[in-house]
Amino acid sequence: HLPVDVDISALPPGQQIVVTWQGKPVFITHRTPEALAALQDAALTGRLRDGQSNDQQQPPYARNWHRSLDPRYGVVVGICTHLGCVPAYRPLPEGQGNTWPGGYACPCHGSKFDLAGRVFRGAPAPYNLPVPPYSMPSPTMIRLG
Ligand code: FES
Repeated sequence: HLPVDVDISALPPGQQIVVTWQGKPVFITHRTPEALAALQDAALTGRLRDGQSNDQQQPPYARNWHRSLDPRYGVVVGICTHLGCVPAYRPLPEGQGNTWPGGYACPCHGSKFDLAGRVFRGAPAPYNLPVPPYSMPSPTMIRLG
């Protein structure tokens, strides 16, 4: 497989693009400062199954709270770790007291993930959305594979 280069220079904060890599959807998000703050908020992280992404299946650069090389950019495989549906992008907080902090919601059996692809406790999905192997040859280029 050849690597796939994705130019993110025109991706505005709060937006996501979906690219295909090895036949799989990969979500690339430009996180806002508010989203980055939410990812470190104890009220959120206390609800996560594996907030530091210690799962050894992850590349080393994903074993941290933002699960990425550059905290501003999220890069995850968009396939639910339960039974493989494609989670929907719901980036904005919703609900009273922001019961939904922003992230991904799986339409099949209700698994919820935050904007770093970290799974919330109680979801049928057993672990976080996988981070694919990637590098950043420049600050505005993501190279998958
Ligand atoms: Fe996503 Fe079941 S496939 S919750």
